[in-house]
Amino acid sequence: MNPVLNLVKVSLEYPDGDSTLRALDAVDLRVEAGEFFSLVGPSGSGKSSLLAVAATLVRPGSGLVVIDGVDATGLKGAGLTSLRREKVGIIFQQPNLLPSLTAVEQLILADHLRGKPAAKARKRATELLDVVGLGPSLNKRPHQLSGGQRQRVNIARALMGRPRVLLVDEPTAALDHERSESIVRLLRRVTEEFSTATVMVTHDTEFLPLTDSVATMRDGRLDVACSPQP
Ligand SMILES: Nc1ncnc2c1ncn2[C@@H]1O[C@H](COP(=O)(O)OP(=O)(O)OP(=O)(O)O)[C@@H](O)[C@H]1O
Ligand SMILES: [Mg+2]
Repeated sequence: MNPVLNLVKVSLEYPDGDSTLRALDAVDLRVEAGEFFSLVGPSGSGKSSLLAVAATLVRPGSGLVVIDGVDATGLKGAGLTSLRREKVGIIFQQPNLLPSLTAVEQLILADHLRGKPAAKARKRATELLDVVGLGPSLNKRPHQLSGGQRQRVNIARALMGRPRVLLVDEPTAALDHERSESIVRLLRRVTEEFSTATVMVTHDTEFLPLTDSVATMRDGRLDVACSPQP
């Protein structure tokens, strides 16, 4: 099967005083539709940098970033923005919801910013909030929701654009154990239901068995992926 996300020999350097810091060193990564891939590794090893490159937010110094068959490194400007909007969903540790908007409005706004027609947005937003278990809370504002519920809104919002690739950076870092497990289980379920190629960065190694594959970053290099222990 062709991977939906395919990184080929991706390297990224940041300026560091008089020299450079190699954040990514010839990284190869292939993730298929419906695959839940997890990425672990010490702080500063390059995990968030890898997600930023896969999200096309940062252009690598060399290598290819192929998303759903399109080489993002060959695009720029409007072409790159539309590839990102149409194919990539991004979920960070902090949900960054707008305080004045209800859960359903957060999702509708995300669609609006993508330039999508408003007519169908409310229906889809309502359906997605149902999928993440927030059907009864769709008219609540962020301060009326728990941390776990806010993260569920964040996940539903990322799914509004029907992404093929879902990139998730430490989604459970601010949550207690029980809520963390339910968020990882939810990510597993939406990966299957929406056939996304999902990459999750996490420090919670106890949840790795809920994912399909695990790889470790060390000093910008990605160690060969192995199957998580059952
Ligand atoms: N914008 C930047 N400019 C310069 N250096 C950066 C930048 N972003 C990250 N770095 C450096 O690149 C390396 C990798 O950082 P990155 O954020 O990818 O690590 P990480 O594995 O996500 O760490 P953590 O687990 O702490 O989130 C680090 O040495 C970091 O200091
Ligand atoms: Mg990070």
